[in-house]
Amino acid sequence: MKEAIHVGLLGLGTVGCGVYRMIHEHQEELFHRIGLPIQVEKILIRDIHKDRKIIMPDDLLTTDPEDIVNNPNIDVVIEVMGGMEETKELILRALRRRKHVITANKDLLALYSGELLSVASEYGCDLFYEASVGGGIPVLRSVVDGLSSDRIFKMMGIVNGTTNFILTKMTKEKISFEQALADAQALGFAEADPTSDIEGLDAARKMVILSTLGFSMKVSLEDLFIKGISTITPEDIDYADHFGYVIKLIGIARRDHGRVEISVEPAFISKDHPLASVNNEFNAIYIYGEGIGETMLYGPGAGQLPTATAVVSDLVAVAKNMRLGVTGKSALIPYNKKQLKNDEEIFAKYFLRLLVKDEAGSFAKLSTLFAEKNISFEKLSQQPLKGKGMAEVVIITHQTTRKAFQSVLSQLRDMQMVYEIKSGYRVEGE
Ligand code: NAP
Ligand code: HSE
Repeated sequence: MKEAIHVGLLGLGTVGCGVYRMIHEHQEELFHRIGLPIQVEKILIRDIHKDRKIIMPDDLLTTDPEDIVNNPNIDVVIEVMGGMEETKELILRALRRRKHVITANKDLLALYSGELLSVASEYGCDLFYEASVGGGIPVLRSVVDGLSSDRIFKMMGIVNGTTNFILTKMTKEKISFEQALADAQALGFAEADPTSDIEGLDAARKMVILSTLGFSMKVSLEDLFIKGISTITPEDIDYADHFGYVIKLIGIARRDHGRVEISVEPAFISKDHPLASVNNEFNAIYIYGEGIGETMLYGPGAGQLPTATAVVSDLVAVAKNMRLGVTGKSALIPYNKKQLKNDEEIFAKYFLRLLVKDEAGSFAKLSTLFAEKNISFEKLSQQPLKGKGMAEVVIITHQTTRKAFQSVLSQLRDMQMVYEIKSGYRVEGE
């Protein structure tokens, strides 16, 4: 009979500190739920001299991963250090030593979940990763367990806290992009390299994980359309506001007749839609199923204690499985064949802003081009730029295909009367 669940932590940064704190501050509740105390045995860090702002016995820290992955006393390894190849090797070694693994590492899972899950299953280990999507929101458990009877056909939402924080600050407080990013980094929301947040890659990785589970289909990053927020300007934000929208980085995964589309891109979201009110580092994910209709999960998508909540809840799940003797039975291998939609099957409305020559016939040429592509205008405005011989044209289209919209963009780029395409966004949520 075990006397405790022995845990090794890989990493003691934002999330690792939260996990350590939660294991200690919630020990009574955790004991009640698991029936055993949780004992942190060792913690891997890089810099032994760093000021940790957390009180713990000195001998817990190590810079040698062997002290964890090769430690016979450790039952569960919690990976919250980030990184790719080196981290993957540590996880694989831990699994092969029959240690259960919990990770918050979406970078790894988006690429290697198949391999990691099959090794976990081979060695009878649990591999849980609730914190990899939606921070503290129990979204993966909802998809896998709560909605296990349903057939999910769409998931749409805000799955990156850093970009939502930045866009909120730019929209509501008129703070610059750079300052908002610096604040998000200081608050511990951003990735070690924030480019993956800003350029949409972090959200894309989360959509890969969500889609793989929700559609039971092994999709990969290359299957996604990905665009980040780095080119959004204050003018775009003002235009969105003027037309009744806010700009959000939106992940969409949709399945129709077995064929899927998955994207991450900034979109105009109608102010009436609940996603428009999801601010700061909060995330929200709409899930649409044939049975449930729609349900929305909302909560903090990043940050120390919210993320630690997801990690430690995974630990409770592992510990319960250990006590029941059913570890290693939960790996879900995708069973649907991957079928991707082409750009003619993907429909959306679009916002477009461009500078054109302010002369007779410009508008007629624009109308002809859009009519040729079978795209109709829902809203239209034109503003002459005084003394420049130019006009700013803003268009919101009706539903059209991605193919038609991309084709219009490419033809606009070649038209002499078009000085510049300032911006183009998908429009959602009406
Ligand atoms: P972080 O603050 O940068 O912490 C990383 C920790 O891992 C640090 O303690 C660092 O040691 C240690 N570490 C990194 N590489 C190491 C190596 N090669 N050898 C030994 N120790 C190493 O990162 P974080 O924000 O906690 O994120 C950790 C993971 O959780 C990432 O995969 C991230 O994507 C994921 N995640 C983060 C959040 C969030 O809100 N931050 C939310 C969900 C998921 P030192 O302290 O000595 O530098
Ligand atoms: N950098 C990530 C975000 C952390 O901002 O959403 C949570 O996964």
